Amino acid sequence: MLYADFEKAFEARLQTHADAYVNAVEYHRVQFGQMIQYLLRSILEQTDTLIKQSDVDWARTEEVVSDILYCADMDVEQFLALEIPNELTVDRDFEAVKTELYETKCYPVSEHLNYISFPPALERKAFIGKHFDRLKADSYFCDLGFGPGVLTAFILQQDASWYAAGVDISKDCLHHAQRLLKKKEVLGRSKLSVADVRSLPYPDNTFDMVVAVEVLEHIPDPETGLVEAMRVLKPGGYAMTALPVRLPLWMHLYDFDTPDEVLALYKKVGLEVVDFETKEFQLQGGSFVDTFALSVNP
Ligand SMILES: C[S@@+](CC[C@H](N)C(=O)[O-])C[C@H]1O[C@@H](n2cnc3c(N)ncnc32)[C@H](O)[C@@H]1O
Repeated sequence: MLYADFEKAFEARLQTHADAYVNAVEYHRVQFGQMIQYLLRSILEQTDTLIKQSDVDWARTEEVVSDILYCADMDVEQFLALEIPNELTVDRDFEAVKTELYETKCYPVSEHLNYISFPPALERKAFIGKHFDRLKADSYFCDLGFGPGVLTAFILQQDASWYAAGVDISKDCLHHAQRLLKKKEVLGRSKLSVADVRSLPYPDNTFDMVVAVEVLEHIPDPETGLVEAMRVLKPGGYAMTALPVRLPLWMHLYDFDTPDEVLALYKKVGLEVVDFETKEFQLQGGSFVDTFALSVNP
């Protein structure tokens, strides 16, 4: 299939759902349209002109691309033939999102693609990177909703004495993330599994840090997930969280209206916020605010 045909077919699929959920259509257009286009360009058409563009970090792009193809265990042809989820639900039901989106081979790939150039994803990494010095030697952290595993690997690569646990509801994400950790040579310091953030398979007071980045909005009641994260977090431990505001996508089962609502949630569960950043991002479908927080369990 030629890329142009692929793009046309994808756009046609999106259009059939345009009335159902406008933001989701826009989001997927950005995700699978621009990103895949960008990815393919970088693999197939790396001309001198593109490489000379000053605003593109091609070395990093190539690394992410090769990571994705390795993790998904596919070549470019197979990548292009990936079936893209197109059954957008209007009722935003957890089980439906799980089977139609999370449990597809495409999902971890699309989430991983974000780390090429999607500004909110790069900002997540930057925020985490800002706080590495808070973790002591031998720290044990838990990545809740690790997705493609990019952040888990990123943290583990900082210090050879750190150890990671993690859960995700998607077995496709588990497979993808484990391959990434293997490629980055940190798999031996991790134990990832399939589980729900609302019912974690760990005893109380286990971790020095819990990471819940862009995951709590994927459950109908984010407070339940955060309370469970607090249960497994040691007193004095850190919570690294990111939550979007006014980004009502079909996989987001709870919509935060303001950054203050996010802050109020942290306070309600007993977290003390140490650093809180908000940033506005433009998407094709409009703008939204992302919030990034480091908090302590006093
Ligand atoms: C937007 S992705 C974020 C991935 C990763 N934290 C990152 O920032 O790159 C959300 C992830 O949450 C997972 N997820 C959604 N609901 C979940 C639940 N109830 N329990 C565990 N994981 C869940 C999804 O499978 C997906 O991998």
